[in-house]
Amino acid sequence: MTRRPYVAGNWKMNLLAADALRLASDVMRKTARHRSVDIGIIPSFPYLMGIAQRLEGSSLRLGAQDADPESFGARTSAVNAEQLKSAGVGFTLVGHSERRAAFGDSDADCNAKVHAALNAGLEVMLCIGETEMQRDQNQTQSVIERQLAGGLEGVSEDQWERLSLAYEPVWAIGTGRTATPDQAEQAHAWTRSWVEQRASKRVAAAVRILYGGSVKPANAAELLAREGIDGALVGGASLEADSFAAIVAAAANSRS
Ligand code: PGA
Repeated sequence: MTRRPYVAGNWKMNLLAADALRLASDVMRKTARHRSVDIGIIPSFPYLMGIAQRLEGSSLRLGAQDADPESFGARTSAVNAEQLKSAGVGFTLVGHSERRAAFGDSDADCNAKVHAALNAGLEVMLCIGETEMQRDQNQTQSVIERQLAGGLEGVSEDQWERLSLAYEPVWAIGTGRTATPDQAEQAHAWTRSWVEQRASKRVAAAVRILYGGSVKPANAAELLAREGIDGALVGGASLEADSFAAIVAAAANSRS
Protein backbone atom coordinates (compact mmCIF):
# COMPACT_ATOMS: atom_id res chain seq x y z
CA MET A 1 0.00 0.00 0.00
CA THR A 2 1.39 3.40 -0.87
CA ARG A 3 0.27 6.16 1.40
CA ARG A 4 0.12 9.71 0.06
CA PRO A 5 2.65 11.85 1.91
CA TYR A 6 1.07 14.48 4.16
CA VAL A 7 2.80 17.65 5.33
CA ALA A 8 1.05 20.11 7.64
CA GLY A 9 2.24 23.43 9.03
CA ASN A 10 1.22 24.21 12.60
CA TRP A 11 1.48 27.97 12.90
CA LYS A 12 0.72 27.92 16.64
CA MET A 13 0.16 31.36 18.23
CA ASN A 14 2.10 33.29 15.62
CA LEU A 15 1.58 35.98 12.98
CA LEU A 16 -0.72 38.98 12.66
CA ALA A 17 -3.71 38.81 10.33
CA ALA A 18 -2.11 40.34 7.24
CA ASP A 19 1.00 38.17 7.61
CA ALA A 20 -1.11 35.03 8.00
CA LEU A 21 -3.06 35.78 4.83
CA ARG A 22 0.15 36.48 2.96
CA LEU A 23 1.77 33.28 4.20
CA ALA A 24 -1.29 31.26 3.15
CA SER A 25 -1.08 32.71 -0.36
CA ASP A 26 2.67 32.15 -0.56
CA VAL A 27 2.37 28.54 0.60
CA MET A 28 -0.40 27.93 -1.92
CA ARG A 29 1.73 29.32 -4.75
CA LYS A 30 5.01 27.68 -3.74
CA THR A 31 3.63 24.20 -3.13
CA ALA A 32 1.07 23.98 -5.96
CA ARG A 33 3.24 21.81 -8.17
CA HIS A 34 3.55 19.04 -5.58
CA ARG A 35 0.33 17.27 -6.47
CA SER A 36 1.46 13.96 -4.97
CA VAL A 37 1.48 15.41 -1.43
CA ASP A 38 -1.43 16.34 0.83
CA ILE A 39 -0.56 19.74 2.29
CA GLY A 40 -2.20 21.47 5.22
CA ILE A 41 -1.83 24.75 7.08
CA ILE A 42 -3.04 25.29 10.64
CA PRO A 43 -3.43 29.00 11.48
CA SER A 44 -4.88 30.68 14.58
CA PHE A 45 -8.68 30.75 14.92
CA PRO A 46 -9.37 34.37 13.90
CA TYR A 47 -7.67 33.92 10.54
CA LEU A 48 -9.41 30.72 9.50
CA MET A 49 -12.36 32.17 7.58
CA GLY A 50 -10.30 34.69 5.68
CA ILE A 51 -7.77 32.04 4.76
CA ALA A 52 -10.53 29.58 3.82
CA GLN A 53 -11.79 32.15 1.30
CA ARG A 54 -8.32 32.66 -0.05
CA LEU A 55 -7.82 28.91 -0.48
CA GLU A 56 -11.01 28.36 -2.48
CA GLY A 57 -10.23 26.26 -5.52
CA SER A 58 -6.87 25.18 -4.09
CA SER A 59 -6.11 21.70 -2.78
CA LEU A 60 -4.39 23.11 0.30
CA ARG A 61 -6.11 21.79 3.42
CA LEU A 62 -7.10 24.11 6.23
CA GLY A 63 -6.79 22.90 9.81
CA ALA A 64 -7.56 24.23 13.28
CA GLN A 65 -5.21 23.82 16.25
CA ASP A 66 -7.94 22.55 18.55
CA ALA A 67 -11.69 22.00 18.61
CA ASP A 68 -13.87 22.13 21.68
CA PRO A 69 -15.81 18.91 22.25
CA GLU A 70 -18.98 20.54 23.54
CA SER A 71 -22.04 21.43 21.56
CA PHE A 72 -23.37 25.00 21.41
CA GLY A 73 -24.02 27.04 24.50
CA ALA A 74 -22.62 29.00 27.38
CA ARG A 75 -18.92 28.26 27.10
CA THR A 76 -17.22 31.59 26.63
CA SER A 77 -14.06 31.52 24.47
CA ALA A 78 -14.54 27.96 23.23
CA VAL A 79 -14.89 27.13 19.52
CA ASN A 80 -16.47 23.83 18.60
CA ALA A 81 -15.95 21.50 15.67
CA GLU A 82 -19.23 22.39 13.96
CA GLN A 83 -18.32 26.07 14.05
CA LEU A 84 -14.93 25.29 12.54
CA LYS A 85 -16.48 23.16 9.84
CA SER A 86 -18.93 25.94 8.95
CA ALA A 87 -16.01 28.39 8.70
CA GLY A 88 -14.33 26.28 6.01
CA VAL A 89 -12.00 24.17 8.15
CA GLY A 90 -11.33 20.61 7.02
CA PHE A 91 -9.38 19.10 9.89
CA THR A 92 -8.26 19.73 13.44
CA LEU A 93 -5.29 18.81 15.57
CA VAL A 94 -6.16 17.03 18.78
CA GLY A 95 -3.80 16.48 21.69
CA HIS A 96 -0.86 18.59 20.60
CA SER A 97 1.67 18.39 23.43
CA GLU A 98 1.37 22.14 24.00
CA ARG A 99 -2.38 21.66 24.57
CA ARG A 100 -1.66 18.76 26.89
CA ALA A 101 0.98 20.70 28.86
CA ALA A 102 -0.43 24.24 28.92
CA PHE A 103 -4.18 23.55 28.98
CA GLY A 104 -4.20 20.18 30.71
CA ASP A 105 -5.81 18.19 27.90
CA SER A 106 -6.00 14.59 29.15
CA ASP A 107 -6.39 11.52 26.98
CA ALA A 108 -10.09 11.53 27.90
CA ASP A 109 -10.38 15.16 26.76
CA CYS A 110 -8.64 14.22 23.52
CA ASN A 111 -11.06 11.35 23.04
CA ALA A 112 -14.06 13.66 23.44
CA LYS A 113 -12.52 16.06 20.93
CA VAL A 114 -11.80 13.26 18.46
CA HIS A 115 -15.42 12.12 18.52
CA ALA A 116 -16.89 15.61 18.36
CA ALA A 117 -14.68 16.53 15.41
CA LEU A 118 -15.41 13.32 13.50
CA ASN A 119 -19.12 13.72 14.16
CA ALA A 120 -18.99 17.26 12.83
CA GLY A 121 -17.42 15.98 9.61
CA LEU A 122 -13.87 17.14 10.25
CA GLU A 123 -10.75 15.08 9.77
CA VAL A 124 -8.59 14.65 12.86
CA MET A 125 -4.84 14.55 13.38
CA LEU A 126 -4.15 13.10 16.83
CA CYS A 127 -0.76 14.05 18.27
CA ILE A 128 1.12 11.70 20.56
CA GLY A 129 4.63 11.58 21.96
CA GLU A 130 6.75 11.14 25.05
CA THR A 131 8.63 13.63 27.20
CA GLU A 132 12.37 13.47 27.60
CA MET A 133 12.04 11.92 31.05
CA GLN A 134 9.69 9.24 29.75
CA ARG A 135 12.15 8.41 26.97
CA ASP A 136 15.04 8.23 29.44
CA GLN A 137 13.00 5.81 31.53
CA ASN A 138 12.26 3.61 28.50
CA GLN A 139 8.57 4.44 28.60
CA THR A 140 8.22 5.70 25.04
CA GLN A 141 6.25 2.73 23.76
CA SER A 142 3.92 2.56 26.77
CA VAL A 143 3.26 6.31 26.68
CA ILE A 144 2.42 6.21 22.99
CA GLU A 145 0.13 3.23 23.49
CA ARG A 146 -1.64 4.87 26.41
CA GLN A 147 -2.22 8.05 24.41
CA LEU A 148 -3.51 6.07 21.44
CA ALA A 149 -5.80 3.89 23.55
CA GLY A 150 -7.19 6.83 25.50
CA GLY A 151 -7.48 9.23 22.62
CA LEU A 152 -9.02 6.80 20.15
CA GLU A 153 -11.37 4.83 22.36
CA GLY A 154 -14.59 4.02 20.55
CA VAL A 155 -13.38 5.04 17.08
CA SER A 156 -14.98 2.74 14.51
CA GLU A 157 -13.16 1.18 11.59
CA ASP A 158 -14.83 3.40 8.99
CA GLN A 159 -13.91 6.55 10.98
CA TRP A 160 -10.22 5.73 10.62
CA GLU A 161 -10.37 7.05 7.05
CA ARG A 162 -10.59 10.54 8.48
CA LEU A 163 -7.85 10.09 11.06
CA SER A 164 -4.14 10.63 10.87
CA LEU A 165 -1.56 10.43 13.65
CA ALA A 166 1.40 12.66 14.42
CA TYR A 167 4.25 11.27 16.50
CA GLU A 168 5.92 14.24 18.13
CA PRO A 169 8.47 13.57 20.87
CA VAL A 170 7.95 16.48 23.26
CA TRP A 171 11.68 16.99 23.72
CA ALA A 172 12.08 17.61 19.98
CA ILE A 173 9.38 20.27 19.62
CA GLY A 174 10.71 23.77 19.12
CA THR A 175 14.08 22.77 20.53
CA GLY A 176 16.08 22.25 17.37
CA ARG A 177 16.67 18.66 18.53
CA THR A 178 15.15 16.15 16.15
CA ALA A 179 14.58 12.50 16.86
CA THR A 180 17.11 10.47 14.91
CA PRO A 181 15.60 8.69 11.91
CA ASP A 182 16.05 5.42 13.86
CA GLN A 183 14.19 6.75 16.91
CA ALA A 184 11.37 8.12 14.76
CA GLU A 185 11.09 4.96 12.68
CA GLN A 186 10.87 2.84 15.84
CA ALA A 187 8.13 4.99 17.36
CA HIS A 188 6.18 4.94 14.10
CA ALA A 189 6.47 1.15 14.00
CA TRP A 190 5.11 0.86 17.54
CA THR A 191 2.28 3.19 16.61
CA ARG A 192 1.36 1.30 13.45
CA SER A 193 1.47 -2.05 15.18
CA TRP A 194 -0.87 -0.72 17.89
CA VAL A 195 -3.26 0.35 15.12
CA GLU A 196 -3.01 -3.07 13.52
CA GLN A 197 -3.89 -4.80 16.79
CA ARG A 198 -6.66 -2.44 17.84
CA ALA A 199 -8.21 -1.60 14.47
CA SER A 200 -7.17 -3.88 11.61
CA LYS A 201 -4.38 -4.71 9.19
CA ARG A 202 -6.17 -2.74 6.50
CA VAL A 203 -6.43 0.38 8.68
CA ALA A 204 -2.81 0.08 9.79
CA ALA A 205 -1.65 -0.14 6.20
CA ALA A 206 -3.64 2.95 5.23
CA VAL A 207 -3.28 5.32 8.18
CA ARG A 208 -0.76 8.10 7.80
CA ILE A 209 1.65 8.69 10.65
CA LEU A 210 3.49 12.01 10.49
CA TYR A 211 6.64 12.89 12.38
CA GLY A 212 6.88 16.24 14.16
CA GLY A 213 9.61 17.93 16.17
CA SER A 214 12.08 20.41 14.67
CA VAL A 215 11.55 19.22 11.10
CA LYS A 216 13.53 21.52 8.79
CA PRO A 217 14.50 21.45 5.11
CA ALA A 218 17.89 20.09 6.20
CA ASN A 219 16.56 17.00 7.98
CA ALA A 220 13.22 16.34 6.24
CA ALA A 221 14.53 14.07 3.49
CA GLU A 222 16.29 11.60 5.80
CA LEU A 223 13.25 11.34 8.08
CA LEU A 224 10.75 11.00 5.25
CA ALA A 225 12.85 8.33 3.57
CA ARG A 226 12.20 6.01 6.51
CA GLU A 227 9.71 3.19 6.46
CA GLY A 228 6.45 4.23 8.04
CA ILE A 229 7.14 7.97 8.21
CA ASP A 230 4.40 9.30 5.97
CA GLY A 231 4.81 13.01 6.38
CA ALA A 232 5.69 15.83 8.72
CA LEU A 233 3.91 18.10 11.16
CA VAL A 234 6.01 21.24 11.02
CA GLY A 235 6.02 24.09 13.53
CA GLY A 236 8.74 26.74 13.29
CA ALA A 237 9.77 25.94 9.72
CA SER A 238 6.18 26.31 8.51
CA LEU A 239 6.18 30.05 9.26
CA GLU A 240 8.38 30.70 6.26
CA ALA A 241 6.90 29.73 2.89
CA ASP A 242 10.22 28.74 1.32
CA SER A 243 11.29 26.40 4.11
CA PHE A 244 7.82 24.84 4.32
CA ALA A 245 7.79 24.37 0.53
CA ALA A 246 11.22 22.72 0.74
CA ILE A 247 9.86 20.20 3.24
CA VAL A 248 6.88 19.55 0.96
CA ALA A 249 9.32 19.00 -1.92
CA ALA A 250 11.27 16.52 0.22
CA ALA A 251 8.02 14.65 0.90
CA ALA A 252 7.23 14.55 -2.83
CA ASN A 253 10.72 13.27 -3.62
CA SER A 254 10.59 10.66 -0.88
CA ARG A 255 8.02 8.70 -2.89
CA SER A 256 9.36 9.29 -6.40
P1 PGA B 1 8.51 22.47 15.65
O1 PGA B 1 6.99 22.17 16.11
O2 PGA B 1 8.63 22.04 14.21
O3 PGA B 1 8.68 23.96 15.82
O4 PGA B 1 9.40 21.68 16.53
C1 PGA B 1 6.34 20.99 15.72
C2 PGA B 1 4.97 20.94 16.33
O5 PGA B 1 4.82 21.36 17.49
O6 PGA B 1 3.99 20.50 15.69
